[in-house]
Amino acid sequence: MDTRLVTEPPTQGQEFDERQVPLYYSRKTADILHKYGPGPRVHFHVGLFAPGAAPNTTVAQRVLKRRIVESQEAIIAHAARSWGAYTTPPGKVLDIGCGVGGGSLYWAQEHGANVTGITVTGEHIPLIEEFARQAGVSSRVTPVLGDIHDFTTERTYDAAYANESSGYMDRERLFQVVAKALKPGGWFGLQEHFICRPEWTGFIDGYYKTRLGTLTEYIAAAEAAGFELEQDEDVTDRVAEFWVQSMAWNTAELDRVERAPLGSARATAWSRERLQESTITHGKLFRIWRDHAMETRLLLFRLGGGG
Ligand SMILES: C[S@@+](CC[C@H](N)C(=O)[O-])C[C@H]1O[C@@H](n2cnc3c(N)ncnc32)[C@H](O)[C@@H]1O
Repeated sequence: MDTRLVTEPPTQGQEFDERQVPLYYSRKTADILHKYGPGPRVHFHVGLFAPGAAPNTTVAQRVLKRRIVESQEAIIAHAARSWGAYTTPPGKVLDIGCGVGGGSLYWAQEHGANVTGITVTGEHIPLIEEFARQAGVSSRVTPVLGDIHDFTTERTYDAAYANESSGYMDRERLFQVVAKALKPGGWFGLQEHFICRPEWTGFIDGYYKTRLGTLTEYIAAAEAAGFELEQDEDVTDRVAEFWVQSMAWNTAELDRVERAPLGSARATAWSRERLQESTITHGKLFRIWRDHAMETRLLLFRLGGGG
């Protein structure tokens, strides 16, 4: 999620405005494709590094990009393995807040799932369709433009997946919707950031337009909807390095843009100001993660009734 940039300064304790989310992502789509593309599996979430790994950042920009993308793929595969998807692949998956479809394509390509990817951002839909076509899984990936809070499908999915999207949602409603959408005994896997030191909430939410919550809040909302927490893995230390690698990519991009002649084709999708702001923010994000002021966790919830 490192490039969810805004040009306005972050504000403390601002109200969540759900109308901002699709606007924000519409503005960000070109940046996402530039930094994390070309696809077909393009992700927009933090990635997983080996425990204690701190790969040298004084390398070519394309090496940084490859590392970033590999770490994003690694965290999905790690979660899928922990959650048992390699041994018992889910036939039908609901990918909630699917972005430009990297996760949806992962479930379809690696586990043969039929995936419905829902996003509130209209620009994502044709991109997901094109990426699914390139990956040869058009028949198994169905992008849907909509708000998950209004999703009404019942008892259809074996699994639901939300990678760094639940932070935009009303958790009580989200778990209720997912409980209805899953078949009995189905699972709901999440990758998300959780508030540990509330003094950072305003900074992060203001910057990323989120409404992040605490682990306790998630568990209460899940239990109220009939879920049990089955797995809770704290991956904060293994994702903190993502900020360093991502910051290095930004710095390399800034160098590249500054060397390019004005108006040349080498100019980036990103403005110089956004790159600078993002790079400064990355330094803070790394420290926030290193200090566990925020924690990234992989959670697996199971719906009762599966026997
Ligand atoms: C940080 S991106 C993550 C994208 C994707 N899961 C990934 O890991 O690459 C968050 C996504 O959540 C979507 N989103 C936010 N609020 C939503 C809502 N209420 N209903 C559906 N999608 C939503 C946004 O459109 C965006 O695609």
